[in-house]
Amino acid sequence: MKIIGTGVGLPRLRVTNDMIAKYVDTSDEWVSSRTGIRERRIISDETLIDLGTQAAKEALAKASVDIADIDLLICSNVANSYVTPSLGCIIQGKLGASCPCFDINNACAGFLTAMDIADGYISSGKYKNILIVCAEEPSRIVDWTSREACILFGDAASAAVVTVGEGLQKMRISTKSMPDVLYYKRKLEYNPFVTKNEEGFKPLQMNGREVFKMAVSASVADIKKVVEDTGWKMEDVDMFVLHQANLRIIESIRQHLDLPEEKVPHNVERSGNTSSACIPILLNELLEEGKIKKGDKIVFSAFGAGFSTAAGTYIWE
Ligand code: ACO
Repeated sequence: MKIIGTGVGLPRLRVTNDMIAKYVDTSDEWVSSRTGIRERRIISDETLIDLGTQAAKEALAKASVDIADIDLLICSNVANSYVTPSLGCIIQGKLGASCPCFDINNACAGFLTAMDIADGYISSGKYKNILIVCAEEPSRIVDWTSREACILFGDAASAAVVTVGEGLQKMRISTKSMPDVLYYKRKLEYNPFVTKNEEGFKPLQMNGREVFKMAVSASVADIKKVVEDTGWKMEDVDMFVLHQANLRIIESIRQHLDLPEEKVPHNVERSGNTSSACIPILLNELLEEGKIKKGDKIVFSAFGAGFSTAAGTYIWE
């Protein structure tokens, strides 16, 4: 399986740390020194569906693949206003596609999880061209009256077209059930037959320090394992494309693995944490800047709520 086109759909509104400081007790100094984040895009008058559609169209154009030739659409999403039908199904309609489609939710590891699913379908010969759309609006699950989590996230969509090829080498997905560390629990509709206590519906809850530790240790372990399983040495790798949770997490992973700065690119300072959309956004930027070339060895690593992680090795074709 190989990636043949990437695309991005970003909200128009840039929200700086100073803008957030008008609503919660925080400061640009605190946020940028603790997270590296200086601004993020937040959905205002657009819809997540529009952004997902825009990202998909750009990826299709770059891949030179007509929507009619897409065999499957996988949409990675944590939360949007539709519980059903799937977000992928709605984006399918906007694209004028007729292929099957479904959503997955593996939090920030969603893009790599979708790649793994796509690889399974393509390797089996069932499908040839698969469109992956990651569409995320974390700004609508965080608490904007509390400073802990709203500063971390940004909204965005990104997409990739994948097809038959030899780019993907190994992919490893892991899950460790720890829902208390990071969760968002939404309220269900009233049901007259429910007798159990159903309290505890809250905006996104996060134990920041625990998430930080788990993210670093899981990513370091995943990367070591997947590099070894591929038969590579760490120094063989040209680029480490990591989930953009925050700069301190990225920097800590880099230091644990003793990697040179130029091999661990980041854009979290401009985008914030856009959940599963992060990796294709960064990949799209690196490709546009000509920083990835044919034959480059790439390691992907993502980590998030669950606690779910994924890492893969890839040779750019
Ligand atoms: N602005 C100002 N002060 C703040 C803010 C804020 N936005 N948030 C917390 N503080 C305060 C706290 O109240 C606390 O004050 P106190 O000492 O008076 O009690 C102080 O800052 C220190 O708080 P900590 O939570 O200990 O700060 P820490 O250094 O751990 O940084 C952070 C918090 C940035 C959340 C860090 O733990 C982190 O990066 N964790 C990872 C979280 C993450 O990336 N989540 C994303 C989702 S999951 C994923 O994608 C991996």
